[in-house]
Amino acid sequence: MKTDQVLLRGRILSFTAEPKGPEDRTAYRYIEDGAILLGGGLIRATGSYDQLSRQAPAVPVVDHRPHLLMPGFIDTHIHYPQVQVIASWGAQLLDWLNSYTFPEETRFADPAHAEVMAEWLMGQLCAQGTTTAVAYASVHEASVEAFFSAAARRDMRMITGKVMMDRNAPEALRDTPQSGYDASKRLIARWHGKGRAGYAITPRFAITSSPEQLEMAGALVAEHPDCHVQTHLSENRDEIAYTLSLYPEAPDYLGVYERYGLLGPKTLLGHSIHLEPREIDLLAATGAKPVFCPTSNLFLGSGLFDDAGLRARGICNAVATDVGAGTSYSMLQTLNEAYKVLQLQGQKLHPLRAFHWITRGNAVALGLEDRIGTLEPGTEADIVVLDASATEPMALRMARAQTLSEELFVLQMLGDERAVAETYVSGVPQKRGAARVRQPEL
Ligand code: GUN
Ligand code: ZN
Repeated sequence: MKTDQVLLRGRILSFTAEPKGPEDRTAYRYIEDGAILLGGGLIRATGSYDQLSRQAPAVPVVDHRPHLLMPGFIDTHIHYPQVQVIASWGAQLLDWLNSYTFPEETRFADPAHAEVMAEWLMGQLCAQGTTTAVAYASVHEASVEAFFSAAARRDMRMITGKVMMDRNAPEALRDTPQSGYDASKRLIARWHGKGRAGYAITPRFAITSSPEQLEMAGALVAEHPDCHVQTHLSENRDEIAYTLSLYPEAPDYLGVYERYGLLGPKTLLGHSIHLEPREIDLLAATGAKPVFCPTSNLFLGSGLFDDAGLRARGICNAVATDVGAGTSYSMLQTLNEAYKVLQLQGQKLHPLRAFHWITRGNAVALGLEDRIGTLEPGTEADIVVLDASATEPMALRMARAQTLSEELFVLQMLGDERAVAETYVSGVPQKRGAARVRQPEL
């Protein structure tokens, strides 16, 4: 018997395609008495418990029945230096950045502070069932070191990058086109592709980068085409007007990023709410991915993301928390608010598509569907165990639920970290571990 192997037993749900409708049974695989064989950090087999327990009779079994086992959740946009910014009152985007966010991010100049917050965040993400995140670090190189180091200690697949910003921000948060380029280059060499780490080239947004800096960011993209790129786009009307005043030659906001070679299938564009027709054409043509951040868009009063409109153009949208403008670390709560944002526009987010979105859908958006967001053999053993009756309101509603879709909708609307019974990262259970992580001393 291989000692690192383990068999997880429970109800198994994973998606093989995006569900085309609320009853599309061809898009997912559901096994009532199922099992997942884990070993060496990978999924070795997924099937019925009966079959797998006969195939691997000596392997220890962890019995998660009656819970639901799914691929770990993926958060495609979060700001790790904002864990003490979440729930800051009263402002829309630009004032919120200046009043709360930038002052807080200056604290990440201290590597010890960055380490404590990165470690805390990894524990928090695991508690929420999130096993991969795409995060903005701060402008400080050491903040990226701290984040990747904390992820490596848990063997988590994480993507981050040093924020590049050389203007319209406090002095302590500004780099220069050259220093931003050099630091990004060093971090890519040190971390990209090491273990499960991936680097995202991260010009914060057009307002905080000079044309010279965006040109250097474009050079990085050309030199490292296998890195992701992340920035913000058209979140708020004042932001758009300010951007166009800083880049008067640009045809529109997205035209700024286009001009500097920042757009391609690995580009993640946070928010993408108020778009012109030409910008939508350009998203479709380049394969860049809008990232829908519902709790943030409602919290900052930014606007309503047009999911159906973009999808109708063949554009692949990702979904994310955007903490600290986002108000929850939970991808379940993110789906809850996503449902309401779409309701306000007469659009529908049915539960099968919702759970596809935060697993395989976000993996597809990242180009990582062959490794995460799936329970296929040979992929990485990141798994969430969900309890749809975790709280009294959930249990009462579940007593009336008759279908898998109804159960998923209870999780989508009422679930949070209490509904996450366990989280496996690279085959190792984290949830009890997360509870043991000491709170930062503040
Ligand atoms: N645009 C530029 N920076 C940020 C940020 O930190 N949060 C949000 N929500 N939007 C941004
Ligand atoms: Zn953001």
